[in-house]
Amino acid sequence: MPGANEFYDDLAADYHLMFRDWWASATWQGGVLTELLRRFGISPPAAVHDCTCGIGTQALPLAAAGFRVTGSDVSEAAVARARAEARERGLRVDLAVADVRALPARRADAVISFDNSLPHLLTDADVAAAVRSVRGCLEPGGPFFASIRDYDAILRDGTTGVPPVMHGAGAGRRIVGQAWEWADDRRTVEISIFLLRPGGDGWTAAVRSTTYRALRRDELTAALHAGGFGEVRWLMPDESGYYQPVVVARAM
Ligand SMILES: C[S@@+](CC[C@H](N)C(=O)[O-])C[C@H]1O[C@@H](n2cnc3c(N)ncnc32)[C@H](O)[C@@H]1O
Repeated sequence: MPGANEFYDDLAADYHLMFRDWWASATWQGGVLTELLRRFGISPPAAVHDCTCGIGTQALPLAAAGFRVTGSDVSEAAVARARAEARERGLRVDLAVADVRALPARRADAVISFDNSLPHLLTDADVAAAVRSVRGCLEPGGPFFASIRDYDAILRDGTTGVPPVMHGAGAGRRIVGQAWEWADDRRTVEISIFLLRPGGDGWTAAVRSTTYRALRRDELTAALHAGGFGEVRWLMPDESGYYQPVVVARAM
């Protein structure tokens, strides 16, 4: 099974295809997150570091909203694509390749990690290292915002995938879906992402797989407390407007 960096290096050029309209989704996310950050005292031109920025789905619209945004990600190809997407839109975002477990010394008014990035960290030691590293970027009182899938519900429901959907039209049509295979102990799940596109005489399929940890909210809460954060608060989608549970914690 490839590590997260290889998985996302391979996926970077196609990442937007998993969305009906990636930039429309990014713009929507930027609006929701701008309001969420504001509720916790972070407004433009505050300095926000996105420590799992990927191709820039949150970092770029936050820069467009007037935040001073820096971003980092373990995937070189994702960072290169985020740079290209920022350039194309005339957005200034300082981007670097870095593992969230070992972020270079920097200071930000807030740190963010959205769309289920932390569950790529498979062990308690990895999650603890990431929390310590994020804590090192913040002054006391500085908030960390992260969203993860609702694994508490998923573990109850026994989810086995995401049903395929068709996006786009004509030559841009694609079908995307996911198949999940749980480890016997249900602590981790191997997720295969299917992407079918018109090609050749019919359709071509790309299948990419990686392993996630089914990170429960109480586990991340405990790691945050142990790693120097307090006032840990979970906001469910009806409270945050985001589509995954969001944790907000303040550096102590
Ligand atoms: C589901 S993507 C989300 C990316 C971005 N936040 C977005 O919504 O487009 C998860 C991201 O986490 C990054 N990631 C996984 N493990 C990481 C690590 N140890 N350090 C930094 N980034 C990591 C991946 O490379 C990937 O870009």
